[in-house]
Amino acid sequence: MRSIDGLEGALSRIEGEFAVTADMLREIAGNLQTAIVDGLAGKESPLKMLPSFLSQPDGGEQGEVVAIDFGGSNVRVLLVELDGRSGIHIRGRRAFSLKDPAGSYDYTSANADGNQLFDFIASQIADLTRLDRRYLLGHTFSFPCRQNGLNTATLITWTKEIRTAGVEGRDIGELLQEALERQGLTNILPQVILNDTVGTLLASAYFDRDSDIGSICGTGHNTCYVEPRHPLTGGPMIINAESGNFAGFPRTSYDGELDRASEKPGAQLLEKTAAGRYLGELTRLVAVRLAADGYMPADPASAGDGAQETTDFLNVGLHVPYSLRGEDLASILSDASAGLSGVASVVAKRWLLAGLPEDVLSAIQKVAEIVVKRSARLVAASFLGFLNHIDPDFTRRHTIAIDGSLYEKMPGYGDNIEAALRDALGEKAAKIHIRLTKDGSGAGAAIAAASVGRNVMGKS
Ligand code: BGC
Repeated sequence: MRSIDGLEGALSRIEGEFAVTADMLREIAGNLQTAIVDGLAGKESPLKMLPSFLSQPDGGEQGEVVAIDFGGSNVRVLLVELDGRSGIHIRGRRAFSLKDPAGSYDYTSANADGNQLFDFIASQIADLTRLDRRYLLGHTFSFPCRQNGLNTATLITWTKEIRTAGVEGRDIGELLQEALERQGLTNILPQVILNDTVGTLLASAYFDRDSDIGSICGTGHNTCYVEPRHPLTGGPMIINAESGNFAGFPRTSYDGELDRASEKPGAQLLEKTAAGRYLGELTRLVAVRLAADGYMPADPASAGDGAQETTDFLNVGLHVPYSLRGEDLASILSDASAGLSGVASVVAKRWLLAGLPEDVLSAIQKVAEIVVKRSARLVAASFLGFLNHIDPDFTRRHTIAIDGSLYEKMPGYGDNIEAALRDALGEKAAKIHIRLTKDGSGAGAAIAAASVGRNVMGKS
């Protein structure tokens, strides 16, 4: 292997490639602001700027409401009680996978269709509710949808790992309604379809009126905000920007490689650099390059003793795409042990490389840190773009509500976002408050349904 001095030089080159300086933060924010204005005006823009037909809640929304939180292959159905005084209580919950790990069903694959998918979801609602009561329902559906009204949303394209046939181009509201009817669930009254970012914003705004940006930093990434004067209504409306598709920032050769090998090359470029699903893969691609340059071994045979014995999964190996996951990065970053035993065990398990020298383990930890830090700084730059658009002079306080495993669990992620905002804004950053809004997409669906359906329950 090549010398350690060389490894340090290689790491500092990588750090330079992934750096997002204060000037870059401001420039990226400016690009995003332009994309916001263009998107709102109906001009060509990487941002879809999808209207939600919702604005901030007033905190008085109440009742026992069913919420669906569908944002990937793990779906949740919740029974949420809103007390009308900003209190949110989860009274029942079912969490289930659309893909049976034992292989008996997979509603996420192109071999399943939309009816099968929504029948399965409706059957879970049946288990959670009583037939002798009526319930309003709010549906968080976290994929890009074109909405023409509150409860009608046409799926533009699946993102993340879902491929179910016959859903793209269809109205999600109709698919759910038909499935509920097939199961005799006429007591369930769907009111509204919303994106998870919108749910997160609503859940935070239920008790904090300063909340005007909602974001998901998890497996996927996206942001919504309150547009003060929406062209459709002239009044405030929450817009789902679908900012994961933003592309106005510098990309590295590793990003290009990841994108070219992805299901949809050229799409969701911010998401592909910033979301949890991709950070392990970017780290792996950098490690592959370090191995090709001779700074670390690439296969078990050339690593130390014991490497072959650690196999407990099939999808492992340094050359296997997506062999390193988001949760592995969290373990790598949280390892403060003297011999980096945490990093060693992840690398042995996922890449089958055992017995690596400590400086190589430390280099892998450094690469993970660089990749995660860039993600947080790009996300911060996008927040800055939204803030500049809503309140260019920072005249008031703003709460950014964030949900998602990346923000919640990745060591240092939130600190990196806040540091970036301070780098770009100086003292004005004190006006920005970031709030972890856990389960926001479920609670937000309930709030939206209660708000929209205020008059429905009185009628028979
Ligand atoms: C979807 C968004 C969603 C985000 C976070 C993205 O892949 O396009 O609609 O908000 O993931 O779940």
